[in-house]
Amino acid sequence: MMLSLIISLAVITVTYILQCNQVYHPSPSTNSHEDYLIRKNSKHYEEIGCSINGLYEISCRKEEKEVFVPFSFLSKYYEVYGKLTVAKGKEKFEWSHSYSKVFKPTTKYDPSGVFMYFNNYNVEVRDRVKCISATEGVPVSTQWEASGYYYPVQVAQFGLSHYSKNLTEPRPKLRNLEDGSNSTAKWNVPVGASISRKYEPITNSWVVEFHSADDNSITLKLKPGSELVLNANLLFKDKNGSLTVLLEDRERFQLYSVSFVCSPELLSVSTSTVGEGSNFTVYYGLGSCEDWAILTRDLYVDLLKGNVLLGRGKKLSRSNLRALSIALKGSGYLDSLAISSSNHVDMFYSSADWLVRHQDTRGGWPIGVKRKMASGRADLNPGWYSAMGQGQAMSLLMRAFYRSGKSQYLEAALNGMKPFSISSGEGGVRAYFMNQYPWYEEYPTIPPSFVLNGFIYSLIGLYDVLTLAPEDRSSDARLLFDQGMHTLKKLLPLFDTGSGTVYDLRHFTLGLPPNLARWDYHAAHVNQLLLLSTIDRDPILTTIAERWLNYMQGKRAAHN
Ligand SMILES: *[C@@H]1O[C@H](CO)[C@@H](O)[C@H](O)[C@H]1NC(C)=O
Ligand SMILES: *[C@@H]1O[C@H](CO)[C@@H](O)[C@H](O)[C@H]1NC(C)=O
Ligand SMILES: *[C@@H]1O[C@H](CO)[C@@H](O)[C@H](O)[C@H]1NC(C)=O
Ligand SMILES: *[C@@H]1O[C@H](CO)[C@@H](O)[C@H](O)[C@H]1NC(C)=O
Repeated sequence: MMLSLIISLAVITVTYILQCNQVYHPSPSTNSHEDYLIRKNSKHYEEIGCSINGLYEISCRKEEKEVFVPFSFLSKYYEVYGKLTVAKGKEKFEWSHSYSKVFKPTTKYDPSGVFMYFNNYNVEVRDRVKCISATEGVPVSTQWEASGYYYPVQVAQFGLSHYSKNLTEPRPKLRNLEDGSNSTAKWNVPVGASISRKYEPITNSWVVEFHSADDNSITLKLKPGSELVLNANLLFKDKNGSLTVLLEDRERFQLYSVSFVCSPELLSVSTSTVGEGSNFTVYYGLGSCEDWAILTRDLYVDLLKGNVLLGRGKKLSRSNLRALSIALKGSGYLDSLAISSSNHVDMFYSSADWLVRHQDTRGGWPIGVKRKMASGRADLNPGWYSAMGQGQAMSLLMRAFYRSGKSQYLEAALNGMKPFSISSGEGGVRAYFMNQYPWYEEYPTIPPSFVLNGFIYSLIGLYDVLTLAPEDRSSDARLLFDQGMHTLKKLLPLFDTGSGTVYDLRHFTLGLPPNLARWDYHAAHVNQLLLLSTIDRDPILTTIAERWLNYMQGKRAAHN
């Protein structure tokens, strides 16, 4: 009621909003420019105090019987969003309830295809990703522990986004630089240093053997190009070797180096001045360097994370960056050196291989940090499993199995279902709603928390297994999926608030206030239901998805 009465917008109101920059400002100063605009429009606005529920006052405008409330206030008060746009030379104000988007599926969900809309994801640039580890090739999270840890959900999402990008993006531009055999690479070898080619029986390939005597490195100048993804197989004989890529920001005339060194330290940075500018080096640790390091590095991301570590923020432009040269120091072997515009396939397999290496004997990917759910209640101690982590890992591993045919991926995905049959109290992820409906917990708390989006991701993982696994291995996945879908259809209405959704059911199980889903989670709920509706024709899925979609456009359920 109140909304429809007072909300209307006029040019002058919008001008004021712009000055306030979306921040509520209780008393705007009427300067002469505004007065001029008011006179020019020959409309007669007056200032008027708006009393907000009798609690406090803000400054509004009045024109005859209409009252104008600053959008900067409404935006905060109702959590709505607005921006000024120009269409056909005319300025316009666009109001929206939700800042999130829904991607309507056009075809049936395909477990070997793009994962949801993850081709739009860029997991590694997220703030909560510290960097991509040079030893593991997967992201390190800082979400719940600043020192960093591997979070299976994030590792799987990293892989799923690269799998999806592989299917949707143009083929990468690839420049092979050195493969140890008949390469044309023109290495610059200083006096006392050497470079030779050698047959390596273990890998059955020719490799480059390098040795730089002192501090002068062996370098390879790169032809101009915009490719920023480095590939290299590298084995150092001494612990003081390094492979360094020199880059420049063409706009800022700034030089950067990204250096891979034998060190247990994940990421570190150093700065020094070189003539007019400064030389900024980001180091990634390759661990003990006992074995070949297989590197697939997005140098832009590597630099960005170094910048963030130094407190320089994220103001690095990918398109301004150029790789200038590659430098080798110390003694060792090098193979498969290449630079390309992307390498989604290798990043995808880095993630799949990480999941294979780090699955424990119970089929779980344990999460090594404490998770606080609700101020001291229902905490999870390090070592917990997440049904969402298991499910997303299964989605990734089944795609790796589909692509490669390698059985280790299938076996890991099948083992990943084990915690679904073990209750949260016994270290699994299975809970029951009202002792009746089985639910797979993203956060297996006691009492259960029933997080909706994590549950649905786990169902998608089960569906991927039951669809892509050989028929005689898919029955467990079928059973768990069917039970889960049955629960989902029964419980979905409990997540509906009439104007949005709740993220979980903590208001029921913990007696806390409802945990309203912010718009991106609400949109995720809708996206997930729309995906499920392409594989399960039960109209409840589309009916609820449509209703929830309407909430994003301000259409609420009717009241009595
Ligand atoms: C996707 O993977 C295929 C097979 O490995 C490869 O040929 C293709 O170039 C890749 N495309 C992109 C965009 O990564
Ligand atoms: C080396 O060159 C030969 C002949 O041009 C070619 O057949 C072979 O594939 C090349 N080897 C590699 C590893 O590229
Ligand atoms: C690197 O280490 C090796 C052996 O540990 C040593 O002989 C060599 O002098 C070192 N080189 C430099 C540049 O420090
Ligand atoms: C920048 O610094 C790194 C590390 O200190 C060094 O290896 C490199 O040679 C320097 N580059 C330039 C152009 O000075």
